[in-house]
Amino acid sequence: MALLGSYPKMVYLNGSIVTSADAKISVFDRGFLFGDGVYEVMTCKNGNFFKADYHFKRLRRSLKELSINFSPDTIIPEIPKVLKASELENKDCLLYIQITRGIAPRQHAFPEQPTPSVLMYAWEKALPEINTALAQVQVQEEFRWSRCDIKSTSLLGNVLANQYAAAHDCYETLFYREGIITEASHCNVFFVRGVTVFTHPANNFILNGITRQVVLELCDRLDIPVQQTGLSKNELNSIDEAFLTGTSTQIMAISHIEDRRVGSGVTGVITKKLQEALRLEKLGV
Ligand code: PDD
Repeated sequence: MALLGSYPKMVYLNGSIVTSADAKISVFDRGFLFGDGVYEVMTCKNGNFFKADYHFKRLRRSLKELSINFSPDTIIPEIPKVLKASELENKDCLLYIQITRGIAPRQHAFPEQPTPSVLMYAWEKALPEINTALAQVQVQEEFRWSRCDIKSTSLLGNVLANQYAAAHDCYETLFYREGIITEASHCNVFFVRGVTVFTHPANNFILNGITRQVVLELCDRLDIPVQQTGLSKNELNSIDEAFLTGTSTQIMAISHIEDRRVGSGVTGVITKKLQEALRLEKLGV
């Protein structure tokens, strides 16, 4: 079957680099049957990955939480080969790593020692140094599970929430749980009130984003006070700034939450400061 659109041409699948048209996965792979897998996405510029060590640490944790017996160390040497096969060694791209529990006769509980399936591909994507776009967001009550800390390929809830945003011409949907804003469908969310930055603590209700972690480090370095406390929906009326963070989103200011304007509806002072600090961090300055 011919692949249409801008799919990556080459992928790494279970030890070999093959064309994406030739990459085949069993219909009995638990990733397909149950969404039983984990993934990571990281940015790469001219062959250099941003915070690869943070991403691999989170990948190891996700694998451990799901008892998937796989060491990412075995695929690290394969990554330059993926970039080379994709002719992306000197370009900007996103690297996706997906690991499922593997192929087994259908049963919900973990089968004994399946061999995990491993897919990697690099996707050409030039990110701007600073994401100057403004996000409009929707708000929905959380309807996913309570292990959002695992970067699982079971993303249907995230897909539905992002589709809800798209249907409202918005970039994102913020989730709330018992009235407290947690995160968004594919981003973390931060708020600024006065000079203080607020974000939900890294517990089982959010993915502890790598960009989130870097932003917290930057706040520390810039002496910006932080409270890792979730804000309630009602408190959104009193915020001065809000922004999203994520690997491809970077730091993106939120201009509107549903029909309410945030601050003056443009990128706020603290958001701008953090965007500039992230730019420098990415350049290694
Ligand atoms: N999304 N929260 C959720 C639910 C996410 O899916 C993501 C990442 C984040 C931000 O994490 P990070 O800063 O590590 O990218 C927060 C990725 C990019 C995705 O699904 O493609």
